Amino acid sequence: MNEAGLKRDLLAWYARAKRDLPWRKDPTPYRVWVSEIMLQQTTVAAVTPKYEAFLRRFPTLASLASSREDEVLKHWAGLGYYSRARNLRRAALSVAADHGGEFPSGFDAVLALPGIGRYTAGAILSIAFRKPYPLVDGNVIRVFSRLFGLKGRAKDPAFVKTMWPLAERLMPEKDPGDWNQALMELGATVCSPESPSCGACPVSRHCVAFKKGLQDKLPVPEAGRKPVPVKWTCLWIEKGGKVLLWRRTDKERLLKNLWGLPDAGKVEAAPGRLLAKASHSITHHALSVQLRAASLTVGLAPVRVARGFTGFLPPLHRNLSIL
Ligand code: ADE
Repeated sequence: MNEAGLKRDLLAWYARAKRDLPWRKDPTPYRVWVSEIMLQQTTVAAVTPKYEAFLRRFPTLASLASSREDEVLKHWAGLGYYSRARNLRRAALSVAADHGGEFPSGFDAVLALPGIGRYTAGAILSIAFRKPYPLVDGNVIRVFSRLFGLKGRAKDPAFVKTMWPLAERLMPEKDPGDWNQALMELGATVCSPESPSCGACPVSRHCVAFKKGLQDKLPVPEAGRKPVPVKWTCLWIEKGGKVLLWRRTDKERLLKNLWGLPDAGKVEAAPGRLLAKASHSITHHALSVQLRAASLTVGLAPVRVARGFTGFLPPLHRNLSIL
C-alpha cells in the first residue's frame, strides 16, 4: 500500500468534493461538538435543519450552560436518543464550572465530559483544534476494511479495536481534521454499505477490496437482528379544549422521562374510537401505535393512575398535566 499516495488522493478529493455542511463553516469547538453529537445516530439530512435551529437558540456554550433541560430537550425533538441532549447540557455546565467557560483542548479533559467518548474527542480535537487525534466510526471502519482488505464485522468490538492503531498510524501531521472528515465523507458518499460507487472513488487504485472484487463482501455483513415488536395504544383525552399529557418515568423501556400522550393502562380511561395509526422504529423496537379517543373514567380530581403512582388533578401530579 502506497500510504502517501492514498493520503494525497483522498485529501485532494475531499478539498474538491466535500459537502457544504453548516458545521464546516466556522468550526469552533462548540459548533463541532454539537454537530458531532447530533450526527452520532442521525443522518446528515435529518441533522442539518435541526442543527441550524439549535444553534440559533443556543448560539454559545454559555447559552447552553444557562438553559433549562426541558428547553434543550424541546430543541432536540425529532433527533431521538434524548440522553445525548441531556449530556450536552451537562457537559456545557461542566465546561462553565471547571474550565472557565472555554472548551478544553486536552484529550483527557475533553474525554471526561459527559457524552464524549474517544470518537467525539478525536473529532473535536482534530477538526476544531487541528490536533492529530484519530477517530473511528462506522464509516471509517467500512473504508478501512475495504481499503486494507480486512475481514470482520463492522460492529464486532474486537474488529473495531484493530481500527484505532490503523487510524493512528495513517494520521497526517497536517490538516488532521480534513483527513478524519475525508475518511468519513468517503464512507458516507462513495464507499457506502451497499453497492459502493467504486467507479467514482478517488482511492480505488489503493483499495485491496476493489482489486480483489470484494467490495460487496467487506466488511462482513451483520447477522440480522430482528426488531422487537411493540404495540402501543396512546390516548387522546380532551377536556375543556386541553389535552392530557403524561410524563413517562425512568422505568419505561422507551422514551424515558419524556412527555407524551398517556399509554392505555397507565391512566384510568377506557380506549375508545380509533383516531390514527402509525408505525415507528426506536432502536431495535418496531412500534405499532394506535391513537384512541378516551375520557377519564374517574373524573379529574382525584385521578387514580395505575402502575406505581397516583396523582391528583388539580393540584397537578408531577407526572400528569393538563396542558
Ligand atoms: N459524520 C460525523 N461527523 C462527520 C463529519 N464531520 N464529516 C463527515 N461525516 C461525518
